[in-house]
Amino acid sequence: MKKLEPVYFALDFEDGETALQFLKEHGLHGIPVKVGMELFYREGPSIVKQLKEQGHNIFLDLKLHDIPETVRRAMRNLAHLGVDVVNVHAQGGTEMMKAARKGLEEASGDARPLLLAVTVLTSMDRRVLEKELRLDRSVADAVSHYGDLAIESGVDGVVCSVEEAGLIKRKEKLLALTPGIRLSDGDRHDQKRVATPEVASDQGSDSIVVGRAIRDAKHPKATYLHIKEAFENELHHS
Ligand code: C5P
Repeated sequence: MKKLEPVYFALDFEDGETALQFLKEHGLHGIPVKVGMELFYREGPSIVKQLKEQGHNIFLDLKLHDIPETVRRAMRNLAHLGVDVVNVHAQGGTEMMKAARKGLEEASGDARPLLLAVTVLTSMDRRVLEKELRLDRSVADAVSHYGDLAIESGVDGVVCSVEEAGLIKRKEKLLALTPGIRLSDGDRHDQKRVATPEVASDQGSDSIVVGRAIRDAKHPKATYLHIKEAFENELHHS
């Protein structure tokens, strides 16, 4: 079974050349990376291939959400790319999440990528849930419910904000991967629920995703190492 790395650097760059150049220029060889929609929709599987050749562990963050059959077949193709972690939206329901896992197993058996379910995006808050999605419940309630659906579906873990990592870790057998990470003096950007690496670790996150805090730092490598150390040290102490 694949494993989750402690820190994934979100490669939120407009094209592959810029992303690979950034990694090279800042000495970030072989660090675990997250490839999201922006990069994948531009470059397709070739960026995954190039990153794999350079030894990166890859979380392919495409957040699938479609009918179960489509998701199963799409997951078969993603597993063939040899990525380490993939994800779906829990809002797609249990049948869809089960189909996602089935597709991964059909392609890769026990060597399949880890499957995560996105609960509530970290850019959303209660106001959005109530006014736009007409969900009359707190973010924590919604995340907890999606966590239960993820367990029922045989998903390995969830994506949630640090604020809900604790409640996810109180459930059985679910990994918690948390984006929305900021250094204490950093800009929040569009993220509504943010936390530092230390707090993420204290709250029980198994892994953090960090994009802009590294990409836009004056010294990206030093910032990456600082974040990794802060997260891991805290892990060892707790
Ligand atoms: O720049 P920042 O650290 O906010 O980047 C967070 C990354 O994590 C982005 O690539 C975003 O797509 C992703 N993400 C998120 N919230 C989720 C799932 C993924 O912010 N629930």
